[in-house]
Amino acid sequence: MTPDLTFPQDFLWGAATASYQIEGAGDADGRSDSIWDTYARTPGQVLHGHDGSVACDHYHRYPQDVALMRELNLSSYRFSVAWPRVMPDGRTLNPAGLDFYSRLVDELLEADIVPWLTLYHWDLPQVLEDAGGWPERDTALRLADYAGAVHDALGDRVRHWTTLNEPWCSAFLGYAQGRHAPGRTEPTSALRAAHHLLLGHGLAVEELRRRDPSLQLGLTLNFTDTRPLDPASPRDLDAARRIDGMANRLFVEPVTLGAYPADVLEDLRELWPQDLVHEGDLATISAPIDVLGVNYYATQTVTAGCDPERASVAAAQARRHDSPSPSVGSEHVVTVRRGVPVSDMGWEISPTGLSDLLLRLHKDYTGAAGVRLYVTENGMADDDVPDANGYVEDPDRLNYLDHHLRAVHDSLQRGADVGGYFVWSLLDNFEWAWGYTKRFGIVRVDYDTQERIPKASARWYADVAGSGRIDH
Ligand code: NOJ
Repeated sequence: MTPDLTFPQDFLWGAATASYQIEGAGDADGRSDSIWDTYARTPGQVLHGHDGSVACDHYHRYPQDVALMRELNLSSYRFSVAWPRVMPDGRTLNPAGLDFYSRLVDELLEADIVPWLTLYHWDLPQVLEDAGGWPERDTALRLADYAGAVHDALGDRVRHWTTLNEPWCSAFLGYAQGRHAPGRTEPTSALRAAHHLLLGHGLAVEELRRRDPSLQLGLTLNFTDTRPLDPASPRDLDAARRIDGMANRLFVEPVTLGAYPADVLEDLRELWPQDLVHEGDLATISAPIDVLGVNYYATQTVTAGCDPERASVAAAQARRHDSPSPSVGSEHVVTVRRGVPVSDMGWEISPTGLSDLLLRLHKDYTGAAGVRLYVTENGMADDDVPDANGYVEDPDRLNYLDHHLRAVHDSLQRGADVGGYFVWSLLDNFEWAWGYTKRFGIVRVDYDTQERIPKASARWYADVAGSGRIDH
């Protein structure tokens, strides 16, 4: 019998973007620099010297983009607010900047699309970085103030609020590896940043909840399903535990269980500052949430690379790749490829990694507390080749989305509480240190003309979103 691939009636069908990646209008209406403006201006940091100053010019083209969302049958749109537009000095409200989001939200509601708002998707006002950035505790307090100010303007129309997007990236890519803004390479600062991001999340949740207890609140974490190369090897198992601990559990456990994982703190004992966590911080960080956002792209396989014999075995089977594995606390761990198909980012494609992850999160962290999971990002960078009209046939991306949606359906059948799915991304856009060289959109953007052209995957997704089911 063919399985029924119909999704629940209230399942949200969405697409996601982020302010710096699409808006452009870098200095319009009083916006100040974010850390990404500064970082992109620094020679050698972003490929080809690209930056977000124009991007998809969404700031000026949002009515057309919302019309496109409607054509694609989206029931929700996940976007982020640019903090330096709303508070150019990090503290004082700039009504002109905030008004953009008010207009955007009205446009979405008019089109019957649920606005899903992220407060912080990596564009910290540069002035706050100048004052120390996330390694400073005060930045967490600033986030809560900013959350309140945005709520004052939009709280009457926006029900879904995400505090942070992928704090692991902000902390470790930004402050330890230097591969993201602000480009610092200070391991202890990265740990300080991680704690203050989580504290900022908790304070923002408290602030928003005080204003309106009925809001749907949460944060979005990035999860990379991490497997040991040799499941029979205790050293490989420990390597996988370390990576999963640093990248996943260091963030999800304080939020959902109210404690940092003891084994990860032990791994980090030489770096973790003893004065970092104040009394009451973990109670704040674990303030009840309604939603856990899950960003999922890939799986990775790791081995304990310090043993020369094992490392050479691993190297013979695979080659090291530019994976999202953290360096802090995971020295001597090597990420290996095993011939699994990869995206244009070099990330291993594994839909079952998503269903396994959703079930694990539901069972270990969210199910008992009634916290609903949403896939807030999933998608694939592909080397798109447009035809003469700019149209892209993208069967690999279409298959990627199809298989991952089947995995979401499978996890629902097996008991995970998943409320929706957001494709990353609606539009091709600025892919951080990769500039415009990587295309994740289901809609092609011609950066010379700013023309938007739905790809084959967008047409397919529109059918799925419109019918609420995947056809066999
Ligand atoms: C995660 C981030 O949230 C988003 O900004 C990024 O473009 C995608 N992953 C793809 O790397």
